[in-house]
Amino acid sequence: MKTPVPQVQLDPAARVPTRWRREVERILITDDQIARRIRTMSRDIVRDFTGRETVVVSLLNGTVMFLADLIRNLSLPLRLDFIGVSSYGAGTESGDLVFTKELRLDVRGRDVLLVDDILDTGKTLYRVLGKLQALKPRRIKTCVLLNKAARRVEAVEADYVGFEIPDFFVVGYGLDFAERFRNLPFVGVLHPHVYKQASQQVKPVRLGKAGGSRRH
Ligand code: PRP
Repeated sequence: MKTPVPQVQLDPAARVPTRWRREVERILITDDQIARRIRTMSRDIVRDFTGRETVVVSLLNGTVMFLADLIRNLSLPLRLDFIGVSSYGAGTESGDLVFTKELRLDVRGRDVLLVDDILDTGKTLYRVLGKLQALKPRRIKTCVLLNKAARRVEAVEADYVGFEIPDFFVVGYGLDFAERFRNLPFVGVLHPHVYKQASQQVKPVRLGKAGGSRRH
């Protein structure tokens, strides 16, 4: 039996540190809540992957913190590799996906745990799952820290979900806006003035990660 996925419970004592208060409206998930949830998710994963040839495939760059905390809780023999995938879309909406790093490990016949930070429209996971399936692993299970079901476009669900979240623009704990805020130890809600201002500055060129960012 998998542990139930928690809806986000706001911690009334959680205050945005002064340094971030101008841009981050509030804390949605504290570092303690994240750490606790990762420990329970890890137990589900360990149970399902014990005795398997496991390859963890993590999507760059947003998984940086989640992955590090997750795998230190997975007491399993495993191999680790990364796929680089980015959305080069203007403003705050998903655009075309670009692969910036390909998988190097052989996953044929192995059990893959595909890790991402957030499942939003589902376009990323859908594309990556297609790519991975072509490499003939024994099975693929997907694991995301955050699930924003309200914005789903592709019919894709994750096997392990940290938190169900409402349609807020979230940053922190690896998630960025225009490459910023990844280093926040919590998941916070971005002040609308930050992304509204940025979308007014968007130029009609290919935007890469420095110029624009998809909405989370
Ligand atoms: C983000 C995030 C997920 C994806 C989810 O990646 O890390 O991979 O968006 O969105 P979707 O479900 O709508 O496809 P992004 O392209 O912003 O790159 P990043 O990981 O480098 O932040």
